[in-house]
Amino acid sequence: MSAALPAPFLQACRRLATPFTPVWLMRQAGRYMPEYRAMRARHGFLELCKNPAAAAEVTLQPVDALGVDAAILFADILLVLEPLGVGLEFTRGEGPHIERPVKSAEDVARLVPVVVDEAVPFVFEAVRLVRKQLADRVPLIGFAGAPFTLASYLIEGGPSREFLRTKRFMRDEPAAWHALMTRLADITVAYVNGQIAAGVQAVQLFDSWVGTLSPADYRDSVLPHSRSVIERVTPGIPVIHFGTGTGGLLSLMKAAGGDVIGLDWRVEIAPAWERLGPDVAVQGNLDPAVLLAGIGEIRRGVKEILDAVAGRPGHIFNLGHGIHKETPVDSVVALVDMVHELSTR
Ligand code: CP3
Repeated sequence: MSAALPAPFLQACRRLATPFTPVWLMRQAGRYMPEYRAMRARHGFLELCKNPAAAAEVTLQPVDALGVDAAILFADILLVLEPLGVGLEFTRGEGPHIERPVKSAEDVARLVPVVVDEAVPFVFEAVRLVRKQLADRVPLIGFAGAPFTLASYLIEGGPSREFLRTKRFMRDEPAAWHALMTRLADITVAYVNGQIAAGVQAVQLFDSWVGTLSPADYRDSVLPHSRSVIERVTPGIPVIHFGTGTGGLLSLMKAAGGDVIGLDWRVEIAPAWERLGPDVAVQGNLDPAVLLAGIGEIRRGVKEILDAVAGRPGHIFNLGHGIHKETPVDSVVALVDMVHELSTR
């Protein structure tokens, strides 16, 4: 269909052959959905992730309720950090918490060696169940955290705004930093390739917080590790490389790799794609907060993006980041319909 869209990606996403722009949404499943809240009333978040039947059910909820063009595996980027022995929990309302964060070179050396296949078999089992239940209706997308974003959770101990501990560690402990990033890159490769072996048809690499870095820091301290992950993804499986606040990093992120670059809403999609070049596909980039406004405003936001992209093949419609929990489900359904309607060629 298109020169811009890598052939394997087309094969993986069967429905890209349909006449509209495909749409899937970041944090497609989640607390904005009553079906998900009902599951969460009975299970903790980690418990849900570790129960393949429940995780498969949550994965399929948005496919049925929203009409999106791909299923996104229900799991988390942080599941592979738990076996490192750092004490991972998800606290209600506050997100992830690491009980024993990495503070020193000695802490890096003390991290427990992880055999990913033995550590997260439940994720791979969920993939197999979802593929069976989907019966090729839509493709299944798997995902993992990129080394920097994983390292930031390990070092900060939880969410952060400024990432000061991470930046200090990167500067003051360069050898330990690279050792940690190398460990995390190996874990990420095993995590995505395990998902692929179990049946996911594309993978998304989340470097959600990398936009906090200067281009020079990204190039020297992060890029080689992200590249080492992307280079080792099972050949033929498309990679979506995503970050937020990456306006100043786009050419470097492209150099790190990926068939598709995921953009947040802080950049204009058309000039960003210009800068990236014609040989990558682009995913994005509606501000998820638009979904809290009225239908007319949502339509305006969708149209703005589709007009900017102007039918150029290789665009995947997505939100610039995760869906807010206050979002009305009807607005999400309307969004998916609008993208299909307004992009039909
Ligand atoms: O439908 C989907 O998108 C699939 C599932 C998915 C989850 N996490 C489930 C989840 C995906 C793709 C992720 C990725 C993830 N996890 C990222 C990268 C994407 C991003 O948002 O930047 C990050 C940074 C994490 C780590 C994480 N997990 C955080 C920061 C939080 C708490 C904040 C929040 O948004 O709730 C989680 C918890 C989490 N992961 C939830 C879900 C559905 C909410 C948990 C709940 O039910 O309380």
